[in-house]
Amino acid sequence: MRKTIIITGGAGFIGSHVVRLFVTKYPDYRIINLDALTYAGNLENLRDLEQSPNYIFRKANILNTGELEDIFSTYQPDGVIHLAAESHVDRSILSPLDFVYTNVIGTVNLLNAAKKHWLQTSSPGGGKWENTRFHHVSTDEVFGALGDTGFFSEDTKYDPHSPYSASKAASDHFVRSYHDTYGLPVVLTNCSNNYGPNHFPEKLIPLFINNVINQKPLPVYGDGLYTRDWLYVKDHAVAIDTVFHRGKNSETYNIGGFNEWKNIDLVKLLCRLMDEKLGRSKGESEQLITYVKDRPGHDRRYAIDASKINKELGWKPSVTFEEGLSLTIDWYMENGEWLKHVTSGEYMKYYQEQYGD
Ligand code: NAD
Ligand code: TYD
Repeated sequence: MRKTIIITGGAGFIGSHVVRLFVTKYPDYRIINLDALTYAGNLENLRDLEQSPNYIFRKANILNTGELEDIFSTYQPDGVIHLAAESHVDRSILSPLDFVYTNVIGTVNLLNAAKKHWLQTSSPGGGKWENTRFHHVSTDEVFGALGDTGFFSEDTKYDPHSPYSASKAASDHFVRSYHDTYGLPVVLTNCSNNYGPNHFPEKLIPLFINNVINQKPLPVYGDGLYTRDWLYVKDHAVAIDTVFHRGKNSETYNIGGFNEWKNIDLVKLLCRLMDEKLGRSKGESEQLITYVKDRPGHDRRYAIDASKINKELGWKPSVTFEEGLSLTIDWYMENGEWLKHVTSGEYMKYYQEQYGD
């Protein structure tokens, strides 16, 4: 069936993989990438798709309701996959309001545009919202922090601690409220930490890969014993495709890698792999590890129970962490120009404020 889908945040890290998967897997679909191109959005991530007949890029801000109106009435989408967001916890600590604007108000603007458009275009006699779907992409960070044991399930109570996770939690609640109040067809996914190509080098894995390449310090926050559950980004994109097409209306699906790592163990593995790939002596990159002041409100442990999406929709991760990490390091080593572009200008200002280097 032909569909027109707006993917917001398609020039960012995860969005670029979702856009590529949809454009290549569904030649009959028309994919509109709606992105404001903030510091985190980069069209270099999608160069290979520029000539694809079923791909359209529209630079637009989800805070601008006029731009949304124009895009919805021009393209008449059947579906929205919403990834556009401010996504970095440390930045949310520095400027929480940016997160309220884009993640909360921007999401409500998008919900309003979908609601208005889909009500207008629903066929007479047909059910309201026929064949439409709003897929909201969210994070496991809305659930707060775990102790040494246990997992986040879809029923875990929300308990966000950072301004980032608080803004994502608010956006999740708004999405559910548009289903419960107006009947908007929605699905939600809450995913664990992603890693892979196109990841902006401010998050742990790409920052540390960049720093190892440039032999700069690796700033490990606090005692380094914080735990994250890592998922290769292309597996997340496949999970989004699965839930968008086959998930049940109004349901939430947790997505995770079944792959918990303490930060310090992950950093040591990364250093070992990079020493081998860069032809450096064993243990050389580990010397760069520097323990620094902890992040305020730092969540101790995240771990996802992804059994619902596995049992109901058959999704599971396809690569092991060692494979995914190795592919990721190779990508950064082969894409020096990309790294150079994204780490010039504004990036350095942020980096110096954050790490004083
Ligand atoms: P990212 O920061 O790499 O990309 C965000 C994209 O959104 C960028 O292309 C940016 O230009 C665009 N954007 C930002 N503000 C916008 C605005 N006002 N209007 C239009 N576009 C705007 O983020 P990411 O890591 O790819 O995350 C994508 C989504 O997935 C986010 O909603 C995030 O909360 C969620 N998520 C991320 C992770 C992760 O590990 N990165 C895990 C789970 C969920
Ligand atoms: P990050 O990649 O920012 O993702 P999130 O905070 O959304 O989980 O951080 C992952 C973990 O790594 C988190 O426990 C914080 C830690 N961390 C460091 O120790 N040093 C760093 O420079 C960064 C960016 C993160």
